[in-house]
Amino acid sequence: MGRIICCGLGPGDPDLMSVRADREVRAARHVAYFRKKGRPGQARRIVEAMLAADVTEYPMEYPVTTEIAFDSPEYVRLLAGFYDEWAERLARLARAVDVVVLCEGDPYFYGSFMHLHARLQGRVEIEVIAGIPGMAGCWNAIGQPIALGDDVTTVLMGTLAEDELEQRMCNSDALVIMKTGRNLQKVRRALASAGRLDDAWLVERGTMPGERVARLAEIDESDCPYFAIVLVHGRGRRMDAGE
Ligand SMILES: C[S@@+](CC[C@H](N)C(=O)[O-])C[C@H]1O[C@@H](n2cnc3c(N)ncnc32)[C@H](O)[C@@H]1O
Repeated sequence: MGRIICCGLGPGDPDLMSVRADREVRAARHVAYFRKKGRPGQARRIVEAMLAADVTEYPMEYPVTTEIAFDSPEYVRLLAGFYDEWAERLARLARAVDVVVLCEGDPYFYGSFMHLHARLQGRVEIEVIAGIPGMAGCWNAIGQPIALGDDVTTVLMGTLAEDELEQRMCNSDALVIMKTGRNLQKVRRALASAGRLDDAWLVERGTMPGERVARLAEIDESDCPYFAIVLVHGRGRRMDAGE
């Protein structure tokens, strides 16, 4: 019996990968990774210089990404079929060999691999190797502490409804907003309504080639790349008490 080893690869810079993930990726003979059709795939790009010459690759191409609404029944049906099919293929493959699945950031933190993880339970041995989440690479790129003292930090998805975004933004000190991409305008409006826009930063492609760090209020664009995070720093509640 082989195993499925899901390697968290960190935020993008290959130097930010764990020693354990580095070892597994270099030793891998079978490597699977998600990608959008026609694209190399972010996880695959991170390991570009690390794969053995004779590795067999299994690109798992999403049937759709942003072409149809992510909450439409058609999207849900297509994605469920896609994950079912790949769970079956990987389970069959892992009967004979180890398969390394590449995952940007940390696999257990909003990683697509979790859809396979759920379907593979009880069928094959799975190991998940922790990675630095993308948001940590992004707040490191700004170079200020994201939260300290008694700050409450909330991680939000830009796909949430605008009124929920606003309400949660009002109830938190530090904010991390992921999946900004095409939701950037909505995120900007919610931040403005919550009185946090002037404190917000946009980090595109954190630690990757083409990284951009800017104050959100100074950006004109109506959308941004898929790999982008909006951050608002906490101010350090009760820090004056020395805690
Ligand atoms: C499906 S989630 C995957 C999260 C990943 N497992 C992690 O641990 O960061 C994808 C979202 O993560 C964010 N993201 C992850 N890495 C990033 C990076 N290096 N720079 C900017 N955004 C990033 C973006 O908001 C993107 O839309």
